[in-house]
Amino acid sequence: MYWFLPWVWTTTWLESFLGHVQPVVDELTDDDLDAAAELHSEAFDQPWSGDELGTLLAQRGSFGYVVRQLGQPHAAPLGFVLARNVSGEAEILTITVSRRCRNLGLGRLLMDRVLERLHTDRANSLFLEVDEENVAALKLYKRLRFEEVGRRPAYYQHPDGRRTSALTLKRTFK
Ligand SMILES: CC(C)(COP(=O)(O)OP(=O)(O)OC[C@H]1O[C@@H](n2cnc3c(N)ncnc32)[C@H](O)[C@@H]1OP(=O)(O)O)[C@@H](O)C(=O)NCCC(=O)NCCS
Repeated sequence: MYWFLPWVWTTTWLESFLGHVQPVVDELTDDDLDAAAELHSEAFDQPWSGDELGTLLAQRGSFGYVVRQLGQPHAAPLGFVLARNVSGEAEILTITVSRRCRNLGLGRLLMDRVLERLHTDRANSLFLEVDEENVAALKLYKRLRFEEVGRRPAYYQHPDGRRTSALTLKRTFK
């Protein structure tokens, strides 16, 4: 008779959680690196450690952003992006959003912040690499006017042994 209760509880929890994501974007700092590494491990088969992320962030021209829940400045980030701009040629080193918060606009928010900064810094172009089968990421980048400029066949190997191509995408700043 109460078979529907778990469904009602889950639905209500999800709705209240999603309804309450009020994101704010901050600079990525050393204090965020371990939490960022956790997010990275959720998304990638070969995750980067906090130390590896720290080394990348310390390189010349590197910068990043985290997105957090509004009013929770010390809470673990919900997503982050790491980028690098050397002499006007920029690249996205990595971007990821927590599984439980995907498709809520947080990836777009992080990318918008990177684009704003590169625009201010008068960068010429922004490059990134993406798996040809990564539907969500491709939608995000296409919407932001990235164009395919290269392809590395069979670059990614999946746990099931399949291989897929890496696409090189470029966004030009005019
Ligand atoms: C790629 C990623 C960062 C996108 O972040 P996100 O917060 O989920 O994306 P957004 O909510 O901002 O949505 C961006 C676009 O993708 C679409 N999208 C998001 N998730 C989707 C999904 N699962 N299927 C299809 N489209 C999806 C959205 O509808 C939106 O498109 P629109 O502008 O046409 O409406 C996120 O999916 C992620 O962390 N993936 C794992 C790590 C990864 O693949 N990083 C990229 C490596 S290149």
